[in-house]
Amino acid sequence: MSGIIKSAKRLETKFSHPSISFLIKHKFIPSGRIILAGDKSIAHRALILSALSRGKTILKNFPLHDDSLATLNALSALGVKIRRKGGLVLVKGCGKGGLKASGKPIFVNNSGTTLRLLLGVLAGMDFKTKIVAGEYLSRRPMSRVNVPLRLMGARITARIKNNEEYAPVVISGGKLKGIVYHAKIASAQVKSAILLAGLFAKGKTRVFERLSTRDHTERMLKMFGANIIVNSNSVTLNPNQDLVSPGEIYIPGDISSAAFFIVLAALIPKARIIIEQVSLNPGRSGIINVLKRMQAKIKVVVSKADQLVNFEPQGNLTISSSKLKGTVVYPKEIPSLVDELPILMVAACFAGGRTIIKGVSELRVKETDRINSMVVNLRKMGAEIRVTKVGPVENIIIQGRGRLCGSELKSFGDHRTAMSMVVAALAAEGESRLDDISCVSKSFPGFLKTLESLA
Ligand code: S3P
Repeated sequence: MSGIIKSAKRLETKFSHPSISFLIKHKFIPSGRIILAGDKSIAHRALILSALSRGKTILKNFPLHDDSLATLNALSALGVKIRRKGGLVLVKGCGKGGLKASGKPIFVNNSGTTLRLLLGVLAGMDFKTKIVAGEYLSRRPMSRVNVPLRLMGARITARIKNNEEYAPVVISGGKLKGIVYHAKIASAQVKSAILLAGLFAKGKTRVFERLSTRDHTERMLKMFGANIIVNSNSVTLNPNQDLVSPGEIYIPGDISSAAFFIVLAALIPKARIIIEQVSLNPGRSGIINVLKRMQAKIKVVVSKADQLVNFEPQGNLTISSSKLKGTVVYPKEIPSLVDELPILMVAACFAGGRTIIKGVSELRVKETDRINSMVVNLRKMGAEIRVTKVGPVENIIIQGRGRLCGSELKSFGDHRTAMSMVVAALAAEGESRLDDISCVSKSFPGFLKTLESLA
């Protein structure tokens, strides 16, 4: 046990010395209970709608990581009064018409959700804003949001390279009209940007999705009193309504952060952990369904009180050591576990038999190309992993061998690759080194402390 604490301390040291490698040498049996900081996707939306509503909103279990702080700082730059008090975030809403032009460009760091959702809000503002992004986000495509927002009437210019648009983005909004939009890409960020712009438009806005994506924006809009109708494949927003703060929002634990510990507990013999008050939104819990199909021992307990907390379902998970089997993951499941695909690939390497994950192309445009980052790392650990391409559709095929071997690993600057590789290294035979762990601050600065608490 002291071994893992020592190595975890080395990991912590890494935060202040990003160039020093860390070593995962000592193995441990994870056991104990954890409660995780609030869900990142819900936190962005809670901040934005609190800012656009009238009245004060208290956000509880708010996650203080780089991405949520990017949204908080962007809204502050637009004149919203936001205070942090103890573990709470207090937002003084300024109403739909209350945002003010920022005197200077807004920096959104590497938070794609901040940038894309903020563009939806700024599309409704009759002033000009320049948004600048960090190194990784500046390489991610923006035309997916710019195109529909232009159809609604926003004027947007962005850096163009090879027919795609990238940050920095300059947007001038106002005088929007509602649209009916058939989304080509399964993206909750795109859907949310359109719906947020729809709040300021004349007439209804309707978004059709071929594959359903997380519905946090729809749930949060309802909670703030918006006139929104959700059908199986579309969402319709009628804008003629002021947003009203519910006063207080508890943000359930982040299932994307939980996923690393779910897989860790499933992979390590004799492990058993409990994760309390975690978000169980059906648009996010694909990882639980797929791991259960792989024979993972996961018990989900949803008490009456947990069924809907502020319009979002939450519950407790108990995960015990399991003997995993390969499975097939279908394209329609991908949006519900898109951020968990790296850790699912790790699980598949330890499973018996073949796992096929179909329709993973969106992984190419995350914080890094996560197909590349995971294939490079897992192959170094001895995994049999292939990528096949049929037209634009990419699939990952992993022949599970029940084991991986320690190796020199790389985070590629990506938080989810880094945390997935820490889990892989802890479950693998032998020692591993990871070049950089500081990137976990993007979504989970407490990752190593939480890991240590289970030792
Ligand atoms: C998010 C949606 C997903 C996800 C991202 C958060 C959101 O992105 O990968 O981490 O909060 O709406 P896409 O909309 O690009 O699929």
